[in-house]
Amino acid sequence: MIAAGWECSGAGRSASEQGRMESQLTVAVVGAGNWGRNLIRNFAADRRARLKYICDRHRPALESQLALYPGVRGVADLDAVLADPEVQAVIIATDAPTHVPLATQTLNAGRHVFVEKPLALSSADAESLVRLAAKVGRKLMVGHLLAHHPAVRTVEEMLRGGLLGDLYYMYSQRINLGVVRSNENAWWSLAPHDISVVCRLLNATPTEVSAQGQCYLQKEIEDVVFATLRFADGRLAHLHVSWLDPHKIRRMTFVGTKKMITFDDMSATEKLWIYDKAAEVSQDLRNFADVVSLRVGDIVIPKTPGGEPLSIEVRHFIEACLDGKPVRTDGEDGLRVVRVLEAGQRSLKQGGAPVKVE
Ligand SMILES: NC(=O)c1ccc[n+]([C@@H]2O[C@H](COP(=O)([O-])OP(=O)(O)OC[C@H]3O[C@@H](n4cnc5c(N)ncnc54)[C@H](O)[C@@H]3O)[C@@H](O)[C@H]2O)c1
Repeated sequence: MIAAGWECSGAGRSASEQGRMESQLTVAVVGAGNWGRNLIRNFAADRRARLKYICDRHRPALESQLALYPGVRGVADLDAVLADPEVQAVIIATDAPTHVPLATQTLNAGRHVFVEKPLALSSADAESLVRLAAKVGRKLMVGHLLAHHPAVRTVEEMLRGGLLGDLYYMYSQRINLGVVRSNENAWWSLAPHDISVVCRLLNATPTEVSAQGQCYLQKEIEDVVFATLRFADGRLAHLHVSWLDPHKIRRMTFVGTKKMITFDDMSATEKLWIYDKAAEVSQDLRNFADVVSLRVGDIVIPKTPGGEPLSIEVRHFIEACLDGKPVRTDGEDGLRVVRVLEAGQRSLKQGGAPVKVE
């Protein structure tokens, strides 16, 4: 139903319906495009959410989704959503340049907001969103999906528990043919996921970024980027992102002092491989020299907890809003990622020269 206006008071509802609604988060999803559809599906399926509106200014996109969710209202702009006092939270899945104005409008209207990545296209804008969310006392969550992935959470626990020893370095590949975007490059489109996870696992922000890339398909828009993030203590992370590649790869490798792990998100059942492999340095006291010995042990493929990462992410946001729980991928996380993206962007323009992260 595409609504011009709406009736939205609780009057006339049964007590049980009213009770159900109070334990549910009433939400609107703005942006019913390729990714917004996945968010719509997950918010519609979660019993702790009540999807009241789908908002998209592109009528065919809106109508195709409304046909799947009878009873959900369709509107063309955010004003119409925010005019309804029942709406408690807004999910923004529109093109990156619209994230800041739509999130600002939502927070100013006193609603919680979930913003797809990247949070903003400049750290100044990201900072102002973080400040605004704190000022109005509402949740600001960023769609850094990978940080909610059960396999990433398992790696995080292993790292915290000392299973890998200290992490020397890590690298990731997020490559495929498509989706080619025209208002952001592959770095801004694909790297936020990896940057968020790298900073989380290393519990630090890189000090500098060197990035090289190339624009093949469109002017001034890099299709492929190779970036190195350097941390103050010498740890390194290397990210390879591309939407111009024959392979669909979503893989991360972690090399620790005691063990090594690969996370292959394209594998249905064997996502994590733990290699009992390490290089150990000891001292040869007779010759006053360091000796490197290599250990090659078993490979263990643990069962990782199941669940679609997006449904976990969606439930996390709902619980943060309803139960006041802290947000894992909050505005600060979004801001940190944008700072790294910005440094990488400057490095790209300087032919790969290292650029300090602000
Ligand atoms: N978390 C993830 O893994 C993931 C994956 C893909 C995309 N995304 C993000 O999701 C967002 C959307 O990507 P997409 O691929 O769905 O794009 P898309 O172009 O397919 O869809 C965007 C939709 O937003 C609508 N829209 C734009 N501005 C609007 C406005 N002001 N009001 C109402 N509707 C508006 C457009 O009409 C379009 O239907 C992007 O920020 C992208 O980075 C996240």
